[in-house]
Amino acid sequence: MTQNLADASRPAAVPAARTTAATTGASRGGWWRDAVIYQVYPRSFADGNGDGMGDLPGIRSRLPYLRDLGVDAVWLSPFYASPQADAGYDVADYRAVDPMFGTLLDADGLIRDAHELGLRIIVDLVPNHSSDRHEWFRRALREGPGSPLRERYHFRPGKGENGELPPNDWESIFGGPAWTRSDNPDGTPGEWYLHLFAPEQPDFNWDSPAVADEFRSILRFWLDMGVDGFRIDVAHGLVKAPGLPDLGSHDQLKLLGNDVMPFFDQDGVHAIYRSWRKILDEYPGDRIGVAEAWTPTVQRTANYVRPDELHQAFNFQYLGTDWDAAKLREVIDLSLDSMRPVQAPTTWVLSNHDVTRHATRFANPGGLGTQIRTAGDRPLGLRRARAATLLMLALPGSAYIYQGEELGLPDVTDLPDEVRQDPSFFRQAGQDGFRDGCRVPIPWSGTEAPYGFGPVAGGPSWLPQPADWAELSVEVQAGDPTSTLELYRSALAVRREQPALGAGTEVEWLAAPEGVLMFRREAAEGSFVCTANTTGEAVRIAAPGRMLLSSTAEAAVESDGESVELPADSTAWWAV
Ligand code: NOJ
Repeated sequence: MTQNLADASRPAAVPAARTTAATTGASRGGWWRDAVIYQVYPRSFADGNGDGMGDLPGIRSRLPYLRDLGVDAVWLSPFYASPQADAGYDVADYRAVDPMFGTLLDADGLIRDAHELGLRIIVDLVPNHSSDRHEWFRRALREGPGSPLRERYHFRPGKGENGELPPNDWESIFGGPAWTRSDNPDGTPGEWYLHLFAPEQPDFNWDSPAVADEFRSILRFWLDMGVDGFRIDVAHGLVKAPGLPDLGSHDQLKLLGNDVMPFFDQDGVHAIYRSWRKILDEYPGDRIGVAEAWTPTVQRTANYVRPDELHQAFNFQYLGTDWDAAKLREVIDLSLDSMRPVQAPTTWVLSNHDVTRHATRFANPGGLGTQIRTAGDRPLGLRRARAATLLMLALPGSAYIYQGEELGLPDVTDLPDEVRQDPSFFRQAGQDGFRDGCRVPIPWSGTEAPYGFGPVAGGPSWLPQPADWAELSVEVQAGDPTSTLELYRSALAVRREQPALGAGTEVEWLAAPEGVLMFRREAAEGSFVCTANTTGEAVRIAAPGRMLLSSTAEAAVESDGESVELPADSTAWWAV
């Protein structure tokens, strides 16, 4: 099943083409400490062969765009062999590329090209569950109860007189019970198996030494291919509480993020990451692990990035914060304070493939969470999104950008139900699961869909793009100084010129009117001040210095020499 590479020589994982903030960061203890990492969602980035689905050759052809954007690394969501029950987060073979995305040779070429351009590559690793089409799971089903393969998953007899009830009360994150009953080889109803996500995603049993061995081997496989790191899916889920105890309550999704659950954030996960860190450290070039860990507190998130564990963890508390100065200041302080004791960089993120894009979140009233179905006030959302991005890029640590946010793309909130593919949409009877809205393919050029996503005008795209996305294409925005694309390019260029911007663990807060954030950072050539006006009104303040960059397209920071007017919902960077 595993594909083989025809070319046996492997690329070294050390980009050398340019001196970047990433490489200069090495002297302060690692490129990843201040890296800007761009998330590519392979299905939706660029379609090289015109079948309507993005692929590795498509991504490869667009790498120069990412180099020019000014990011340091690219994180690729899964492209492994998969039946795509959860858009690739259901892996059937961890060492093979799904034919819809290309081949292992394409992956090899992509890694090599990226390194030549000075970009690092991080791949997604999905260790909490496999696909139900994974060879181990298929054999476990075929061989029936008592098969040693069943010990690699969580198979249990059901409760009730005839085993007709699930073994415990756990609920799937995608809705419904977290257990599905399997059939015995003779077709009679058999044991149940655990799946915290879709039934097509059975959870591994990490108490099984075979599972631990297999993943250490998978890590080495991709490290030998030259990748610079792994984003670890559901990093908090691998270890379950002994005995799989009942939770004793329903609506468990609402508890997520508030309590330690018997299936999430168990202390046993940390031994796994300590063993992985040793493997990462065996390889040259600072290979990293990034935890996707949903935990009740940022302090518990910090446990994943202790010095002998992973390097970074996503800061979902920041992602979930409204566009509100007081709330932002609180979460920024909390994030920096919680990472300092473990000496890990704080990360910052506003959008990804699982949440409503921030241009749409901020177009809606605050407090609605990260799954929003309404388009809201689009111009307001874009204005705030641009301001939020400049604020994020001024903070110390590493920042994540999700493909298309540099174009100011909104979520597509009106996708017809019949084109949706998010499994949780179906498991929640259409009440939830709107993640397809942030996964619509990228508009690159032209006036007709798929807007350069695929090679042929009028060709297919796996999700339909809105008619007005021609105006948002890369081609239209490139070179327009008022565009969101040029704002991102300028911001990343300034960050590169001033590596000290991403470095460090402190911000110095300055006094500011209500609704305005103002902080100072020490940069290489003097100080740097960031102002963020989160209110809907212009605010006048004493001029902090010489303006470097503003999020407002109309460049409306008005100055009379001594004072300046910060436009509503805007961020500016100042040299002082
Ligand atoms: C988190 C991933 O980001 C999401 O897309 C996926 O559905 C779940 N993990 C399950 O793998």
